[in-house]
Amino acid sequence: MAERSMTSASRKPFDVDAVRAEFPILSRMVHGKPLIYFDNAASAQKPEAVIDAMAHAMRHSYANVHRGLHTLANETTQAYEDAREAVRGFINAGAIEEIVFTKGGTEAINIVAAGISASIKPGDEIVLSIMEHHSNIVPWHFLRERKGAVLKWVDVNEDGSLDMDSLAKQLSPKTRLLALTHMSNVLGTVPDVKAAIAMAHAAGADVLLDGCQAAVNLSVDVRVLDADYYVGAGHKIYGPTGIGFLYGKRAKLDALPPFEGGGEMIETVTRDLVTYNAAPHRFEAGTPPIVEAIGLGAAIRWLSAQDRAAIHAHKQALLTRAVDQLRGVNGLTLHGTAPGKGPVLAFSLQGAHPHDLAQILDRHGVAIRAGHHCAQPLMSHLGVSATARASFALYNTAWEVDAFVAALSKARAMLS
Ligand SMILES: Cc1ncc(COP(=O)(O)O)c(C=O)c1O
Repeated sequence: MAERSMTSASRKPFDVDAVRAEFPILSRMVHGKPLIYFDNAASAQKPEAVIDAMAHAMRHSYANVHRGLHTLANETTQAYEDAREAVRGFINAGAIEEIVFTKGGTEAINIVAAGISASIKPGDEIVLSIMEHHSNIVPWHFLRERKGAVLKWVDVNEDGSLDMDSLAKQLSPKTRLLALTHMSNVLGTVPDVKAAIAMAHAAGADVLLDGCQAAVNLSVDVRVLDADYYVGAGHKIYGPTGIGFLYGKRAKLDALPPFEGGGEMIETVTRDLVTYNAAPHRFEAGTPPIVEAIGLGAAIRWLSAQDRAAIHAHKQALLTRAVDQLRGVNGLTLHGTAPGKGPVLAFSLQGAHPHDLAQILDRHGVAIRAGHHCAQPLMSHLGVSATARASFALYNTAWEVDAFVAALSKARAMLS
């Protein structure tokens, strides 16, 4: 795997109880039961460090960025740009100019799709896997509808791993872009993205990796991967909503036309013409989500100060514990068992609709997700319209896994 190794040296030793104490929401009760939050793949909870950083910004040092000549504007601009530097370091990009703040993972992908749109010719191909999130499908459908691009689909194997033969077949000299998840939000699959990128580059195509799930679970190095674009969402990295990022190799971003027009993204505007600012500002029209960016910076600094190797081992142990117990539940199907998968557990239980399961589990204080998870092509491949999904974060515990499985058994008894 081409992620950065997660070294333990000089990091805070991982202690799940100590970490839990940093997340105020985890002490609340739901329906009289302690909250067990297993909906982390949708959105993770926030530590005090993030809440405090955002509150501090609004209490002490808030103004618009990049425009002012006064102290508060300068301080806020500094904090905003420090957050950009935090993202750069987090994914080991070569320069801060390669990091664009967006309002989330979805917008980041749309910036690339809209940007390459002008150069797409009828018959140009976009290759994507069937396990993509709709965010990494619909923008490419726009290119199909509007520009005559052709979408080519890469299959997954029985265990949910990416079918590399299928990828090889779909790539061709007509491929403009491979748009691939770095971790499936349903199957947890982590494709061999380094190999996939090398294959796509050999075919002359660029590669966009959707890192919305991977960024929090893996240690990402965009330079080792050689990704052309990499996308992440703040709210899944223990940061706030309303902020995400697009990494693009400098030459790629420099060649990409702007997405939205407005203030800050221009160099000059006259009655007759407009010239654009350089990246990343060219893609950050208007007042950006300033406090949210500061919150994301705080989240990344907080996470980076933890022992990420120990956290990885902890989440994998939770996954193994849950899988071992769920395998014993009659009528339960696990979706996605690929080696090296992330801490995301989608499952179906015979005779029980996922929505009913989620509602019954909620009465036990357990928050899971149920639905198509914005992955309808994958659902149709699995032959289901929806699944239940539990996903683990660094603050989850073995006790919570056991309580979840016990609650699931009760739900099963109720529904059958
Ligand atoms: C794999 C994946 N890609 C993209 C997204 C979209 O991210 P956002 O909702 O932050 O725009 C999600 C969110 O669930 C996701 O899981």
